[in-house]
Amino acid sequence: MKRNIIIEPDPILRKKCLPLDKVDNDLKKLMQEMLETMYQAPGIGLAAIQVGILKRIVVIDISREENKKDPLYLVNPVITHRSKETSVYEEGCLSLPGQFAEIERPANCIVKYIDYNGKEQELKAGGLLATCIQHEVDHLDGILFIDYLSKLKKDMIIKKLVKHKKEIERVIV
Ligand code: NI
Repeated sequence: MKRNIIIEPDPILRKKCLPLDKVDNDLKKLMQEMLETMYQAPGIGLAAIQVGILKRIVVIDISREENKKDPLYLVNPVITHRSKETSVYEEGCLSLPGQFAEIERPANCIVKYIDYNGKEQELKAGGLLATCIQHEVDHLDGILFIDYLSKLKKDMIIKKLVKHKKEIERVIV
């Protein structure tokens, strides 16, 4: 089942998500639905908060190839190391459709998490994956990539999204 993605501005996206105790079948089902929603959007990362579930769950697949899916499921992800070296990517977000901005973040990071099978994992990430992990973990604390921009740029993007949301409503009505 595909889930609806919450679009900024929405107070839900600013909430802090809660950790999970264990990976059970309900959680596995939710992670599959999140992945399906992300692939259809299409996007390379999605946090549960973006579908209105305030839990610390993230799905990522940076493979971008239809026939070579490589999903990553992160439950309770914690970034334990951020490199001093930084990199810049043009970021977008499924909750901010059509909006992109160059964001500077640590180039490499180490993330600890619980995987799809309930096993503790540690992953050293660089490049696009490192940026994606940091972007998604930010979501779990109510942080969006536009929070790293100047107030002027941020306000401009939010204004466009408000207009975009009104247009969507107009079509539905
Ligand atoms: Ni996002």
